[in-house]
Amino acid sequence: MAFTVAIDGPAAAGKGTISRAIANRFGFEYLDTGLLYRATGAKVAAGMAPLEAASSLTPEDLARGDLRTAEAGQAASRVAAMADVREALVAFQRDFARRGTGAVLDGRDIGTVICPGAEVKLFVTASDTVRADRRWRELADPSLTRDAVLEDLRARDRRDRERAAAPLRPAQDAVVLDTSQMDIDAAVSAAAARITAALG
Ligand code: DC
Repeated sequence: MAFTVAIDGPAAAGKGTISRAIANRFGFEYLDTGLLYRATGAKVAAGMAPLEAASSLTPEDLARGDLRTAEAGQAASRVAAMADVREALVAFQRDFARRGTGAVLDGRDIGTVICPGAEVKLFVTASDTVRADRRWRELADPSLTRDAVLEDLRARDRRDRERAAAPLRPAQDAVVLDTSQMDIDAAVSAAAARITAALG
């Protein structure tokens, strides 16, 4: 039986960095589920119907180089509010969770909807100003102000939290990890400690 780690939380909280480090350390597979929504949003922006876009994702769609932009994030958040789009992506994510000896999936609804039986559930968060500051530094785009990045994050979080279909929220049995005052090493150590404890 594969061991599943569900890592949820708002945008730019450090989920991806923590997930990759955990997958490396424990030899688990890693799926960034946000990419599924980003790739779907990009196909919709190019004119495809949302359900068709989500149902026809290929590895090439997921490897596109332009999925990390703020526009792609907003397009992802919009298609992610559609119940039929979410439904079309469930089977792939659940199949992935059974790969290897263990799998780490990061997203918004992994602990609540996709893998409610996950052995470890973390809800990684940080204050919105800390998250915006991190994202602004990471993007390193001279045309973007810190305030514009903050506004973008807030709009996306609001949509992700307030939607009816699988809204962003911690699972009842999730451990909340607030990384506002933590550096990457401290956040990874805290997450790894939970997994070591659950592995027994
Ligand atoms: O994690 P990310 O920033 O790449 O996600 C992009 C958008 O996709 C995010 O605003 C909400 C949506 N998403 C989702 O609804 N459910 C997931 N499991 C992952 C992402």
